[in-house]
Amino acid sequence: MNPSSNTVRFVLDGAIIEATGELHSTSVLDYLREHLQRSGTKEGCAEGDCGACVVLIGELDVPGTAIHYLPVNSCLQLVPTLDGKSVKTVESLQRANGSLHPVQQAMAAGHGTQCGFCTPGIVMSLTGLMQSVPKPTRSEINDALSGNLCRCTGYKPIIEAAIQASEAPVDRLKLDDSQDLPLLVQLRRDRAESSLMRTPEGKEFFAPSSVAALADYMTRHPDTTLLAGSTEIGLQVNKQFARPGRIAYLGHVTELRQVEDKGVFWRIGAQVSLTTVQTLVADAYPDFAEVLRRFGSPPIRSTATLAGNIANGSPIGDSMPCLLALGATLLLRQGEVTRTLELDKFYTGQKKNALQSGEFIEAVHLPKPAPGVVFRAHKISKRFDQDISATCCAMSFQLLDGKFSAVRLAYNGLAPSPCRAPKLEALIEGRTPEEVNGADLDQAIAASFTARDGLRASWAYRSLLARNLVMQFIEEAATATTEITP
Ligand SMILES: Cc1cc2nc3c(=O)[nH]c(=O)nc-3n(C[C@H](O)[C@H](O)[C@H](O)COP(=O)(O)OP(=O)(O)OC[C@H]3O[C@@H](n4cnc5c(N)ncnc54)[C@H](O)[C@@H]3O)c2cc1C
Ligand code: FES
Ligand code: FES
Repeated sequence: MNPSSNTVRFVLDGAIIEATGELHSTSVLDYLREHLQRSGTKEGCAEGDCGACVVLIGELDVPGTAIHYLPVNSCLQLVPTLDGKSVKTVESLQRANGSLHPVQQAMAAGHGTQCGFCTPGIVMSLTGLMQSVPKPTRSEINDALSGNLCRCTGYKPIIEAAIQASEAPVDRLKLDDSQDLPLLVQLRRDRAESSLMRTPEGKEFFAPSSVAALADYMTRHPDTTLLAGSTEIGLQVNKQFARPGRIAYLGHVTELRQVEDKGVFWRIGAQVSLTTVQTLVADAYPDFAEVLRRFGSPPIRSTATLAGNIANGSPIGDSMPCLLALGATLLLRQGEVTRTLELDKFYTGQKKNALQSGEFIEAVHLPKPAPGVVFRAHKISKRFDQDISATCCAMSFQLLDGKFSAVRLAYNGLAPSPCRAPKLEALIEGRTPEEVNGADLDQAIAASFTARDGLRASWAYRSLLARNLVMQFIEEAATATTEITP
């Protein structure tokens, strides 16, 4: 993006596209279809649910020798975020000799398509998967398709087609991006340090390249809308017709894209995606990784950030119960001043938080596993994949001489914001698993939360889940203890 010309520059199939005009609230999907005639990419829901709009966004790796692809819902991404990146649509897959990609061939040959509306999105999700996992398992294929809805074919032939395609040679599965690579290197070289796009009526899209530049802009313009993975903001633009006056995009701030090992905790930058966090916690906290596996879909997780989930502060936000139970803290920044705040103290009401004017989340500090600490979490939703929680419960504890110690218990879906449950923690602390009973937990739940029926679940259902999930964790802890006792 060039501040003087208001031009967004990105690579599409071996050519640099220079996008101009009032683009700062234009979705990538609309731009592809209406300006570039890439109408293979479809609009179904415009809210990240159907996957008909999935395209691959490519970014140059650090050495500048390869392009790393992510599947994204193009309906949720704004055009200026493409600056310096590349795009692959379903039209990109046809080779110069006219041959189709193995995924396309297998979908056609295996009757994986009927009306065809979902097909481009499905093809792009599968092609994206095979860029990083050329020989996926059935379960990896299922996961890759969890954000693609097909209403006529049924999934069996689609999954069979994916398995069939994966038998093709790896070099046929890989995207041909040899002409894109030098162009992305050129765009990186030309890119302004920080860039500002301004519309004639004064709307701004700022893309800083450092935390200091971001902090300075936020101090001068505290009303700025921060844009991270755009899975909330994109929804607000499409469905509530939000047109923020000022946007600051975090995607080009290298410091915010990093995870650092700080010994006893990980420092997770505010622009780190949930896909990266899922990988980070896979061994340390498998239940947390599983909650994240069921968070949206791969195109949502590939851009959505942990910090965005926290800042958004939805009562049913899924990462927060895990982070609260694990004792996460936030690194907040306002100008040149930073402070740390326990996540426990961050929320002040429904979608309200302790951020001060011009302050933002710079990083999330996630404690690493400590010896003897057990962490459990589980999300309950009506649909297994790509659905919103009825409740998600997370619990960490130690068993010392058979008694619970250092209990931290947190939920979403029960209160105006995700929160800990101190009365339940106190009830469990110091008891053996056998001493905790459901009736006591029911009383503590009734005393802790205001009974409210919601659109997605009644209070009776949610409070039952709140009790049963804890009972399950406790019973499994008791079983595990019994098993290791000689
Ligand atoms: C189809 C779909 C499925 C979803 N599924 C789930 C789900 O299963 N579970 C769930 O919990 N959520 C879900 N979400 C909600 C959303 O994906 C998450 O809240 C996500 O983590 C938001 O992160 P983001 O980076 O995309 O945020 P953005 O949309 O970029 O921003 C969200 C909010 O946070 C603010 N913000 C961003 N970064 C910062 C920062 N560093 N400091 C201060 N404020 C900041 C923004 O200004 C904005 O108000 C889903 C959304 C969609 C569209
Ligand atoms: S149009 Fe449905 S996910 Fe984008
Ligand atoms: S083929 Fe019609 S929706 Fe999938």
